[in-house]
Amino acid sequence: MATSTSENPTSSVPVNSSHASEFGKSALIALAIVAPFAYPLWVSATAEPPRPAHEVLIASAPLPPIAVEDAVTGREVFVTTCAACHKADGTGMPNLGKSILKSDFLASQTDAEMESFIKKGRPATDPMNTTRIPMPPFGGRASMSPAELRGVVAYMRGLQDPRRLPALPDYVPAPTRDNVVELPKDLDPEEAKYISSGQKLYANSCVSCHGKDGHGMAGLGKDLVKSDFLAKLSDDDALAFIKKGRSTSDPLNTTKVDMPPKGGNPALSDDDILDIISYLRFLHKTQTTGR
Ligand code: HEC
Ligand code: HEC
Repeated sequence: MATSTSENPTSSVPVNSSHASEFGKSALIALAIVAPFAYPLWVSATAEPPRPAHEVLIASAPLPPIAVEDAVTGREVFVTTCAACHKADGTGMPNLGKSILKSDFLASQTDAEMESFIKKGRPATDPMNTTRIPMPPFGGRASMSPAELRGVVAYMRGLQDPRRLPALPDYVPAPTRDNVVELPKDLDPEEAKYISSGQKLYANSCVSCHGKDGHGMAGLGKDLVKSDFLAKLSDDDALAFIKKGRSTSDPLNTTKVDMPPKGGNPALSDDDILDIISYLRFLHKTQTTGR
């Protein structure tokens, strides 16, 4: 590398070494005079580094309360989509999503900035990404309405500062939107009932990592439609697997990403999971045969 004098070839000011040392001397003298007075200031500045944005937020007077309507919409989105990785209480999960509760990033961003963050996500290659796990765009959903985006940002603000969160009605899971596959008419009605229930449950609890069509998402969950592993398991063994998950410490884990127990949704019953398995078997049967 070049020396400091030639580092900037366009500089028109030649550096004269004797002037430089002359300046160095007077700077030292000035420092000697000022230092004793500056020292206590310096100590108090270093003893208290700038406080993290989240700490400042909760130590300050609360911002205005969040509208009930926004919080209810946001809670629905958060529980069905974001909780798979960030946990329903927003405290985050190791090897999945970070803590929302204590996020300085969230505390320091405006609502508009947060909305555009959620739209884009944060790929593993983003320099801001510290976990090497992608935050998928819209948390893995196909899209969000403006009201859902506004709501989920508001709800996260409430998780960060509960003083702003209004009393909310009890949580009742809403019937799921997206991802509705037309079932063939000749299907056994009993079986069709399980499959369509499984499809809704899948869209709530598995879609964020395994994708809208079951074909997996890069850096998150594997393809379940083409999974030989799943195809070879009996329903009972598949149920046991899904209940347990496959953590990164399991030697069979190949992705270095956790498959959380029950996909991160402890509310799923055995019957719910068996419905999801019926749905996955249906996808497997209709998409891997006859092609
Ligand atoms: C499939 C897992 C997954 C889902 C689902 C998910 N996230 Fe994330 N999220 C992540 C990961 C991983 C990170 C951290 C990436 C990194 O290392 O910076 C993250 C980071 C974030 C951050 C930034 C935190 C910080 O301090 O940097 C916010 C805010 C966030 N997610 C909000 C959401 C919201 C809102 C949803 C639901 C709409 C959601 N996430 C769904 C995995 C997920
Ligand atoms: C937070 C992300 C995440 C969620 C949510 C999730 N999974 Fe997974 N899943 C994974 C990851 C990651 C793997 C692969 C782990 C490995 O072996 O490397 C996986 C693997 C699997 C496998 C084994 C596939 C194979 O071929 O090895 C099955 C089956 C499965 N998941 C089913 C489900 C079901 C059903 C749900 C919903 C109830 C669900 N997962 C929710 C992340 C997730």
